[in-house]
Amino acid sequence: MARVFSGVQPTGNIHIGNYLGALKQFVELQDENQCIYCIVDMHSITVPQDPKELKDHILDVAALYMAVGIDPEKSIVFVQSDVAQHAELAWVLMCNSYTGELSRMTQFKAKNKGRESAPAGLFTYPILMAADILLYDADIVPVGNDQKQHIELTRDVAIRVNNKYGETFVVPDGRFLKAGARIMALDDPGDKMSKSAENKHSRVSLLDDDNKIKKSIMKATTDSDGIIRFDPENKPGISNLLNIYSAFSGKTIDDIVKDFEGCGYGDFKKELVNIVQTGIAPIRERYEDIRNSDELIRTLKDGAERAGAIAEKTMKRVKDNFGLGL
Ligand code: AMP
Ligand code: TRP
Repeated sequence: MARVFSGVQPTGNIHIGNYLGALKQFVELQDENQCIYCIVDMHSITVPQDPKELKDHILDVAALYMAVGIDPEKSIVFVQSDVAQHAELAWVLMCNSYTGELSRMTQFKAKNKGRESAPAGLFTYPILMAADILLYDADIVPVGNDQKQHIELTRDVAIRVNNKYGETFVVPDGRFLKAGARIMALDDPGDKMSKSAENKHSRVSLLDDDNKIKKSIMKATTDSDGIIRFDPENKPGISNLLNIYSAFSGKTIDDIVKDFEGCGYGDFKKELVNIVQTGIAPIRERYEDIRNSDELIRTLKDGAERAGAIAEKTMKRVKDNFGLGL
């Protein structure tokens, strides 16, 4: 069994793009691998957070992950700051990485937006991510394409330490989530659906109620030729809706196009509303149950204990190899 590790930031507005592009695959992976899913709260404080909101978002995301099917009996689900070794290993790795390689990270450059001074944590963010992964001897790390550079850095640092201090870390491989299945924003199909877009009708969030789902889909941008056809280049709006329809119904795009031959966009959108509402309702119901139960905290504490036992062993190996401590 391979060991799978991934980290998710505790943010709100998790949408159907996140679900189809990432969460569904996290669930599928847990049948044949030992999966560890971590809510990376220490990464999230590299930008300012409201303490009360952060705590809520940690529990929201944990409940949502379980609502989509991550099973804490099969997988370990825990909160990063509950296992102290993440920060401990990050320090050791920082001493084995270079400011030059960190300044080349495109995510840092984008988030820092050319300011002269940045929080040091924003700069060393990728090293904390490397620590997350290496602490658990992960073989596979499923992430979005935007994380490719961070995975490369993790591999470089792991190989560097192994060469200098002897076999210490498993060198992980990235598993890049289906880029072709990118879900685009409903109000602007030229842009990807995102958590942070100002217009809430640009996305369908997993916790939207039926009314909101209907509004957002009925408002979705299409085109004026009125023909339902899959052509992402010339008809990005309708093609995006066909993608969503296909993902939620399990039907092929060809079959959907045939089913709607001669119909207008309005009829197609109404049926899409139905299909998305039906797909999301059970997730939302399970979420409410899980989010409001005392079980949630117990599950996360238990996850932190199981994760901590693995982390402790790795950290001991690191300290031994580096000559740290007694
Ligand atoms: P985020 O935290 O929003 O960057 O997204 C978490 C994961 O969800 C990413 O690693 C992507 O694989 C996936 N994801 C985000 N947005 C989309 C989208 N619009 N379509 C498909 N997958 C997405
Ligand atoms: N940096 C990742 C993101 O923004 C989140 C993350 C933190 C992560 N630690 C990780 C992903 C470890 C995979 C493995 O999406």
